[in-house]
Amino acid sequence: MSGAAGGLFVTVEGIDGAGKSTHIESMADWLRRRGWRVELTREPGGTELAEALRELVLHRPMDALTEALLVFAARRDHLRQRILPALERGDCVLCDRFTDASFAYQGAGRGFDAALLSSLEAWVQEGRQPDLTVWFDVDPAIAAARRAAVRAPDRFEQQDLQFFSRVRQGYQSRRSADPERFVRIDGDVSPEAVWQQVMVALEARC
Ligand code: TYD
Repeated sequence: MSGAAGGLFVTVEGIDGAGKSTHIESMADWLRRRGWRVELTREPGGTELAEALRELVLHRPMDALTEALLVFAARRDHLRQRILPALERGDCVLCDRFTDASFAYQGAGRGFDAALLSSLEAWVQEGRQPDLTVWFDVDPAIAAARRAAVRAPDRFEQQDLQFFSRVRQGYQSRRSADPERFVRIDGDVSPEAVWQQVMVALEARC
């Protein structure tokens, strides 16, 4: 995270079904082999309070503002209790989703005001950003087929292809605004071919 001495903050993003979960454990193992102590965590979640908020966000009906406030409340607790202490120890934090997901899902997906999300981001993160964001970019139709094969949908996964096309656009906009931080992975190909790209990205940046 920029500003935190010594540590390395890596986030992993993508629409549901993009393949993050397939690769994140291997990413943690790769980083450990490289010598990092790795704190593998996720959002919403990562602390007891934030995991309780995750349950609400994923399963209870609510409007976009409530949803945005809850994901940022969870993030604030996660940062203070877990992410910042790990970075201050000089460890690597590998986080399954972070604020780019709020811009993609609550912003581009739900249509929530991006300026307000930026304010929440500034308040909650106090200017801190990940060092590297690995974005698994996948065609929404391919992602939908993958999801259908493996699990029952939560509130987000029930959304249609148009929603996920907007979410994908949201990620693209975040990447355009901060190209140095992002590495785009072509997630449409086989797991082996995806992993090759991930290794190249980690090799170059970690
Ligand atoms: P996900 O990380 O895909 O976990 P799982 O693999 O267990 O389904 O699910 C988290 C969901 O939360 C995902 O659909 C995106 C959503 N989300 C937001 O809407 N905003 C956020 O800020 C974050 C972090 C996640």
